[in-house]
Amino acid sequence: MVRKAVIPTAGFGTRFLPATKSMPKEMFPIINKPIIQFVVEEALDAGIENFVFITGRHKRPIEHHFDINRDLEEVLKNSNKLELLENVKKISHLINPIYIRQKEPKGLGDAVLVSEPVVGDEPFIVSLPDVIVEGGTEVLKKMIEIFNMFGKGVVALYEVPEEEVSSYGIAKVKEVEEDVLLIEDLVEKPSLEEAPSNLAIVGRYLFTPKIFKKLRETKPGKGGEVQLTDAMRKLLEEEALYAYKVKSKVYDTGTPLGYIKTLLEFALKEEDIRGELEAYLRETLLK
Ligand code: UTP
Repeated sequence: MVRKAVIPTAGFGTRFLPATKSMPKEMFPIINKPIIQFVVEEALDAGIENFVFITGRHKRPIEHHFDINRDLEEVLKNSNKLELLENVKKISHLINPIYIRQKEPKGLGDAVLVSEPVVGDEPFIVSLPDVIVEGGTEVLKKMIEIFNMFGKGVVALYEVPEEEVSSYGIAKVKEVEEDVLLIEDLVEKPSLEEAPSNLAIVGRYLFTPKIFKKLRETKPGKGGEVQLTDAMRKLLEEEALYAYKVKSKVYDTGTPLGYIKTLLEFALKEEDIRGELEAYLRETLLK
């Protein structure tokens, strides 16, 4: 049974510096909800019970977000802002999180390895907290279904435009059935010529515990970091790895442009914002 999700949040977020010097990029808001909350709710609704956050010393705001804030609750109660109060309280009771420090950000692979003592000998999900997947709960449910069918790991893949291929881990695949693929090879950030497809790893993984052994065997690669993709390639030598092709939209908020696009799209979905925002954008673009 898949009960645990690992959420790595220990990176420095260098693409957003200096904003990320003390503020985790995972806490950036989409309107009024931090990105990481979307990712937690997605997994919660897919039946995940235990949340393991990999954090660093500059990531305290994440811990505070999922904790109780009595002072704030008191102020909201006294000023009769009851709807806000309920919202704030709900977040503190959403999950019982477990936080583990990755002492240095030595790569996503290393971050996942840090979770081993808590995950133990169980299959588990890894969700990247800077990616929002539209209908993400259904995607995770489907991935769990595929795991239950084959007993092997499953990765979510997403078709990206050619110009974005070099920004992602790209998979070579074979179709098993509609939307279910078998991964034959993985290449991290290939050039367009090297890329075996335009199917990118989007930040949702389901691993068997065997990945830990492979992560331990993986030497630091690009940028001196232990790359999760390298460990997945090693895993492929021993164990099949399946993929689920995501049809819905994937929002990568990990770059300033990606974040702004996500923010704009979500803002345009808000009834009380859309009208004025649309008019403002038109006016600004026509200038
Ligand atoms: P990213 O590469 O998107 O995040 O990693 P980053 O390293 O913080 O950002 P840049 O590249 O410097 O701009 C994806 C996720 O993995 C986590 C990050 O916090 C992010 O949520 N991560 C990355 C770790 O937990 N530890 C690491 O060593 C690296």
